[in-house]
Amino acid sequence: MAPLDQTRKTDIGEAGSDTASRLLAWYDAHHRELPWRIAPRALASGTRPDPYRVWLSEVMLQQTTVEAVKAYFRAFVEKWPDVEALAAAPTEDVMKAWAGLGYYSRARNLKACADLVARRGGSFPESEAALRELPGIGAYTAAAIAAIAFDRPAAVVDGNVERVVSRLFSIATPLSEAKPEIRVLVERMVPDKRPGDFAQAMMDLGATICTPRRPRCMLCPLRADCSAILSGDPERFPVRLPKAEKPLRRGAAFVAVRGDGAILLRKRADKGLLGGMTEVPTTAWTARADGATTDAAAPFPANWRRAGQIAHVFTHFALELDVFHAQASGDTPVGHFWSLPSDISGEALPTVMKKAIEAAIPGATKKPSPHPAKRPA
Ligand code: ADE
Repeated sequence: MAPLDQTRKTDIGEAGSDTASRLLAWYDAHHRELPWRIAPRALASGTRPDPYRVWLSEVMLQQTTVEAVKAYFRAFVEKWPDVEALAAAPTEDVMKAWAGLGYYSRARNLKACADLVARRGGSFPESEAALRELPGIGAYTAAAIAAIAFDRPAAVVDGNVERVVSRLFSIATPLSEAKPEIRVLVERMVPDKRPGDFAQAMMDLGATICTPRRPRCMLCPLRADCSAILSGDPERFPVRLPKAEKPLRRGAAFVAVRGDGAILLRKRADKGLLGGMTEVPTTAWTARADGATTDAAAPFPANWRRAGQIAHVFTHFALELDVFHAQASGDTPVGHFWSLPSDISGEALPTVMKKAIEAAIPGATKKPSPHPAKRPA
């Protein structure tokens, strides 16, 4: 990392605490209401955050948006209200409840972490260093839990915070190289009082005001501190290098349906992509655009009909699956099982597999409504 220049250091030292105070005052008035969050007023009157809920939300939020996480978080805490309850749950049930959130190694680590914490009496460690020892907790999550659950002065730096800081200091270095510099700047801004609220305020500012496109600078509590505003083009920051295009893989998925509507499924290997999740049979996913994606690769001969094509983007590649659909006799190929229509929405099906099933049988993976809409007369 290039050393920070002295002028900048002094600037932050003098202005940093004002910046933090302005941000906290804004947060008091404009924070988002989130199901895992203790609002500043409740914190001030002595309500303590539950480290279990903070940990669970931070793991869910690692690669998933706040909007997508809300319903999953509510379902998890209703089913497993504390870390002991989660530790006592079968891994299979946790994977099922996680289905659709993506990045499934998080669910396996979540369970492993719950087991460990339950074995140590149910309390999470408070320091970043001790939190980092736990499965699924990296630098970011350890800092977030230490700050939000235990009010430790940790520098919590996620994508939102990187954007806010890149703009505050108009950092011209590409973001991939600027991360250590940004971390140091955040460390200097973290206030001694209310570091947990400060961390959440930075996230909220990035999510609601200092947005990637069309930031709402006129409403920003930090506009007087922000050098990107002076440049006239705050959207220019953070500076990013062009992204490499993702390679495309192709394959075929086979949705076999029995007379009673059950769908043929199998479980993926525990390790690797979508590890431990459930899928319909598929071919290998390869870069080849040839016979591997036709019904010649089906798990058994049947009257396979092409139902369509679905696309899904993973971290390291894009995938296109040709989806084939057939009525099946009901024999069960080795390593497979049948899931009835009433059970399918509760299976540990990742989004890509739900897409494949939906292409063949629209509506099949949706939860049956507890109050079916009345038919119009
Ligand atoms: N993103 C990651 N952690 C968050 C949190 N605690 N609140 C809001 N957004 C977040």
